[in-house]
Amino acid sequence: MVAATMLRPPCCRFLPPRRASSSAAAAAGPARRLLLSTPIFYANGPPHIGHLYSALLADALHRYRGLRGAGPGRLSTGTDEHGLKIQQAAAAAGTSPPELCERISALFRHALTQAAVSFTDFIRTSEPRHRRAVQHFWGRLRDGGALYRGSYEGWYCTPEECFLPGSQLADSRDAQGRPCKVSLESGHQVHWTREDNYMFKLSTFREPLRRWLQDNPEAICPQSFHQRVLHWLEEELPDLSVSRERSRLPWGIPVPGDSTQTIYVWVDALVNYLSVLGYPETHGEWWPAAHHVVGKDILKFHALYWPALLLAAGLAPPEKILVHSHWTVHGQKMSKSLGNVIDPMACMQQFTLDGFRYFLLRQGVPERDCDYYEEKVVKVVNSELADALGGLLNRSTALSINPTSTYPCFSESCFPKLDDGVPRTDGRASAEDYELVASVASLPLQVATAFEAFQIYKALECITLCVRQTNGFFQRHQPWKLNRDDPSEQLWLDTILHVTLECLRIFGTLLQPVVPHTADRLLSRLAVRPEERTLVGLTFLPRYHGQPCPFEGRLLGPSTGLLFQKLEKSLQHQTGTQKL
Ligand code: MSP
Repeated sequence: MVAATMLRPPCCRFLPPRRASSSAAAAAGPARRLLLSTPIFYANGPPHIGHLYSALLADALHRYRGLRGAGPGRLSTGTDEHGLKIQQAAAAAGTSPPELCERISALFRHALTQAAVSFTDFIRTSEPRHRRAVQHFWGRLRDGGALYRGSYEGWYCTPEECFLPGSQLADSRDAQGRPCKVSLESGHQVHWTREDNYMFKLSTFREPLRRWLQDNPEAICPQSFHQRVLHWLEEELPDLSVSRERSRLPWGIPVPGDSTQTIYVWVDALVNYLSVLGYPETHGEWWPAAHHVVGKDILKFHALYWPALLLAAGLAPPEKILVHSHWTVHGQKMSKSLGNVIDPMACMQQFTLDGFRYFLLRQGVPERDCDYYEEKVVKVVNSELADALGGLLNRSTALSINPTSTYPCFSESCFPKLDDGVPRTDGRASAEDYELVASVASLPLQVATAFEAFQIYKALECITLCVRQTNGFFQRHQPWKLNRDDPSEQLWLDTILHVTLECLRIFGTLLQPVVPHTADRLLSRLAVRPEERTLVGLTFLPRYHGQPCPFEGRLLGPSTGLLFQKLEKSLQHQTGTQKL
C-alpha cells in the first residue's frame, strides 16, 4: 500500500475555469488557434505501430482542420527522454542515456516524417528550452503551495514509472519462481521502494477535477473514457510523489534549489505540451486551446494528474483529451518478450505509406482494441483503395469512354432537379441515382461530424459506402455501352461521367487528411487545382442546382497509371521488429 507521512501545508483552493463548449468555441470565429499533440514517445526503443497510430490520429485531425480553414494550428510531437526506464535501457544497450536518446529520437523523427505526419513542433525533453519550462512550472507549483516534502514508500513499477496502490497489484512469480507482485494493468513486476521526495497534493484536486469534467462533458472523448475518469475520481486519489532521489535517478531535470532530487519523469514529460508553446513566455497565445491524443494506458496521467498540475500552476486544463485503445497482434498484446512488435517502417514499405495509413485509421476504433494481421491490411486496402476507389477512377476516365479526356458536361434534361423531393420521370436518372446524389451531398457533413467526434474510422466508413454507391451507379448505367454518335446518348453518357467525377472529387477532397498522396493523385487526375481542394465552400454537383461548374470542359490531368497498385500478400513476414 502506498503511504506518505509528512507535514502538509494548508490546503489551497484551486478552481477550474468554466469553459464554453467546443462547438460554441468553434462558432466564435474561424481564426481559432489549436494545438494538437501526440504523446511524446519513450526514447527507450524504436517506434512500433501503436506509436504510429497515436501520431496518425493527431495528424489526420490536424490536416482536416487545415482543410477546413479552421484557424492557425500546430501539431506537436517528440520524445520523452528522462527517467529510470531510459537510464536502464541505456545501461542494457551498453551506452549512455544521451547517446541512446539521440539515436532513438532520430528514429522517431524519421519514422514520423516517413509516415507523412505533418508535425510543426518536435520536442525532446533533453532540450534546454524544455528544462527551463519544467523548472519554471515546478516553481509555480511550489509557490502555489501544491508541493510538500515527504517520506514515501510503496510499490514502484519502473516500466510505468509510478508507485501503485494495493488495488492495482496482483500476486505473481518472478523469472526464478519466487513470489512477487506485479502491476494489474501492465503485468510488470513492482518493487518496494522507500525514499524521501516531494509530494504533489493531488488529493485536494478531487473536487476541482470533478467540476472540470462536469462543466466540460466533452473534455474526454470517447465518452466511455470520460466515465472511466469520473469513476477514478470516486476511488483513492493519493498524493503524488513528484521527485526521485538524484542518487538513484541522475538522468532527469533537477528540482530547482534542491540538487538531491530529480523531477518525476511524468511531470517533466507532461510539461512538453507547454514548452512547445514557449512556456513561460508565449504559451498564453495558445493555451488552453489544446487537444491531446493519447492511448488509454496513459489516460490517468493526462486526465487526472495533468489537469491537476495545471490548475495548481495557475493554468487551465487542456480543452480535450482524445483517447484511443490499443493494437494487438494476432490477438496478443504487442511486446518485446513475445517478439511480435510490428515495425511501422517495414509496414509502410510493404503496404505503401498511404496503404498503411489508411488501414490503421480505417480499422482503428478508439473505443476498443483492434487486432493487426497482415491478411487484414491486404484485404481492406485492396478492396477499398485499389478496387473500389482506384477502379472507379480508372473506369470513369478511360480514353475509351472519354476520348477527349475532359471533365464532361452535365445535362439537366438527363438528370433534372427533383421538385420538392418528388421523383422526376422526364429524365434518365433513377430513384437510386437521386439517392446517390443525396448521399454524396451529405458526405462532407457526415465526415465533419465523425472528425469532430474523434471517429475517423467512421468518416472513412461513410466515404467507403459512398464509393460503393457510386460504383453501383456506374455499373447500373453501363456507360461504355452508350453510343457517342447518338446525340441524346452522348448527353446521358457525359452526365454519367460528370456525376461520377463529381463524386470522386468529393471523395478525393475528404480523403486528403488520411491518404494525402493518393488523394493528391486523384485530384490531380481530375484537374482540381490546389486552391480548389479545401473544404471551405466545397460544392458538389453545382450543375444539378443550376449553378455553373468550374470543372466542366476542363482538360483532365495526365494519367499516371493506377491510382493504387494492388498489394500482394507476402509469403514470409516482412514486418519484423527493428533492432535497437
Ligand atoms: N512517454 C509516454 C507519454 C508521455 S506524454 C506526455 C509514453 N510513451 S510510449 O512511447 O510508451 O507511448 C506513446 C503512445 O503510444 C501512447 O499513446 C500509447 O498509448 C501508444 N501505444 C503504445 N502501445 C500501443 C499499442 N499497442 N497500440 C496503440 N497504441 C499504443 O507513454
